[in-house]
Amino acid sequence: MPQISQIKNLWHLCPMFGGFPMTILPDIALTYDDVLLAPQFSDVASRKTLSVETRLTRKIKMQIPIVSSNMDTVTEAEMAITMAREGGIGIIHRFLSVEEQTAQITRVKKTESFVVDHPFALNMTHTVGDAKRVVDETGTGGILILQKNVVTAPANTTLANAEKILHEHRIEKLPLVDEEGRLAGLITLKDIMKQMQYPHATKDARGRLAVGAAVGVKPRDMERVECVLEAGADCIVVDIAHGDSKQEIEMLCNIRRRFPGAQIIAGNVATADGTKRLLDAGADAVKVGVGPGSICVTRLVAGSGVPQLTAVIHCVQVARDYDVPVIADGGIRHPGDAAKALAAGAETVMIGSLLAGTDESPGLLMTRKGHKYKASRGMASTAANRDRKERDGERVAQEDLDEYVAEGVEAAVPYRGKAREVLTQLVGGIQSGMSYSGAHNLKEFHEKAIFVRMTSAGLKESMPHDVEVL
Ligand code: XMP
Repeated sequence: MPQISQIKNLWHLCPMFGGFPMTILPDIALTYDDVLLAPQFSDVASRKTLSVETRLTRKIKMQIPIVSSNMDTVTEAEMAITMAREGGIGIIHRFLSVEEQTAQITRVKKTESFVVDHPFALNMTHTVGDAKRVVDETGTGGILILQKNVVTAPANTTLANAEKILHEHRIEKLPLVDEEGRLAGLITLKDIMKQMQYPHATKDARGRLAVGAAVGVKPRDMERVECVLEAGADCIVVDIAHGDSKQEIEMLCNIRRRFPGAQIIAGNVATADGTKRLLDAGADAVKVGVGPGSICVTRLVAGSGVPQLTAVIHCVQVARDYDVPVIADGGIRHPGDAAKALAAGAETVMIGSLLAGTDESPGLLMTRKGHKYKASRGMASTAANRDRKERDGERVAQEDLDEYVAEGVEAAVPYRGKAREVLTQLVGGIQSGMSYSGAHNLKEFHEKAIFVRMTSAGLKESMPHDVEVL
């Protein structure tokens, strides 16, 4: 249980101030820059040995605690593939038609699997023209030609055995057959190599890369839920800015009723009470963060929000009793921020702008004054709102735009190369933070962490200073 020295969480204990029509909570709320992790005795020889294995939801396990944001400048299929391969997960944003979002999920799911379930097959009577037609129509890279003398294996063959058979016979594809000799699947050398290349990948039970899908809370969003689950989405993110709301809870309950097995992430909230309401409605993970994001202006526009470290601590206190993980969403600018969020008890962090700057994000690459940038934008920005309406076939007049009260901005973020490099820095920083706290895994990190508060002078001292940074 992390401690904030000298500060007690009195939030729940706080009585209404007698006679006042409003409440001022007694604690000062803190964010990442307000604290540091106090260094503690450590027996860790190398930070690389520390486990950052975690949970995204009640049921989904991951090897790294990082999730890419469901934003249209951050996560589509390419980002989701990289995130899952590296051991995290990507959430495909919802600002696409249902068909487009479903196609993105399908693309992730088709990238790799232990076994190709329905390999394309022809028999000896088919012509080269038939084969070409199948390739053109399906985009498949290979077709099995069914005949008697091919090397096959039983349908339940393990990957290790399949690898042995492929090597023994110097072949690259191994058809699987059921007891009646019917084609039951295909294992390819390429898929086995991918398993070795990405040993930490987050996968579903069929060996396909894991991916999440964001949905809204309108009645028509139920169709979206059905389609993305059908396409294989591993979890649903019920995504609205103010998750502690009737609409969110109704949607959560509806999804739970219709799809009892679905893993549902609900949010966003920033208080203990909000977390409790989502948990009572059946959430499998709670996304925490109102206004900390790099492209958010909610706190300026609405005057609402809770500084993110305090928000995470309060929400975790409730979620722990339900044994449900918290996702700290937004405001991570440095690996140390991610370390602080996890030390505060979040089980994963959701990252927007840091990943928006990478090759895998859908945002546009641009050059300004000799430096490369990529576009990023808040999903409640005027531009995102206009594009959303246009996509839904609405005509958007200037007065509609003038009347829209944006809670997000459009921005350019520094280009950062491959997403893998950003993830390496984040994970390395988290492991370093664990090592300074003497923790070997994230559970220990949460238990052992001691936060010290600092002044603005401490923050200044924490930055490079009195030098010209090259
Ligand atoms: P970072 O700091 O990682 O934050 O870029 C990403 C998170 O910001 C949230 N988000 C928004 N919040 N207005 C907001 O108040 C917006 O327009 C907006 N767009 C995204 C979201 O939770 C994301 O994961």
